Amino acid sequence: MAKERLDKVLGHLGVGTRKEIHKLARAGLITVDGQVITDAAFKFDPALSRIEVAGEALVYQTFFYVMLNKPAGYVTSTRDPHGIPITALLSEEWQRSDWMPVGRLDKDTEGLLLLTTDGELLHRLTHPRWKVAKRYYVELAAPATPEDVAVFASGTLELEGEPLQPAELFIGPDPHKVELVIREGKFHQVKRMFAARGNQVTYLKRVAFGPLKLPPNLEPGAFRPLHPEEIAALYGVVGMQL
Ligand code: URA
Repeated sequence: MAKERLDKVLGHLGVGTRKEIHKLARAGLITVDGQVITDAAFKFDPALSRIEVAGEALVYQTFFYVMLNKPAGYVTSTRDPHGIPITALLSEEWQRSDWMPVGRLDKDTEGLLLLTTDGELLHRLTHPRWKVAKRYYVELAAPATPEDVAVFASGTLELEGEPLQPAELFIGPDPHKVELVIREGKFHQVKRMFAARGNQVTYLKRVAFGPLKLPPNLEPGAFRPLHPEEIAALYGVVGMQL
């Protein structure tokens, strides 16, 4: 495990903002392996050290998780020379080199995007075997039809010879505005499903991933760490223990 700055480690553990952590350090309230550390830029290996803040020991977290409300214009990559990577939306204390996006959203797609540092969780959440539901709000050039609902539900639709799993299409009062739930994540899947029906997606936003919904108060471009119960729900949906 690499060495990390004290303010970053404590920020990830929810101790406070960078400013608050610097204040705690200056006040002599932080110890690492029993040594008072007044410089919040101090570098150490958090996995191997005992950290105390005001006499309280902190439990080191092995993996990290955030949710983003991705705006259009960002690429789902952690470092991409051909566009602005979604990690540019994270604040400085949440910058890490080991973030992995949980499934890709196209550059023009908006909505819920999870990032984690746990590779096994990522693998299971995105592998079709685990059938994790992804829900999209979709705007269409032409109205969706009851036949679209039936074809998507039947599991008979194929993309380039590959059969798709059954998907649920919900048509609202305006049939140009629908919601689609898919349980796999093929390249451009939603756009290609509607293209296969002779239609065209004009706007796409992911509104839920497995048990997690895009919170209405998470503005486009904003992010927040997952809450403990959200992390537990994600692990639970793919049969993993925390
Ligand atoms: N399906 C698509 O076509 N694009 C996305 O970004 C996500 C799902």
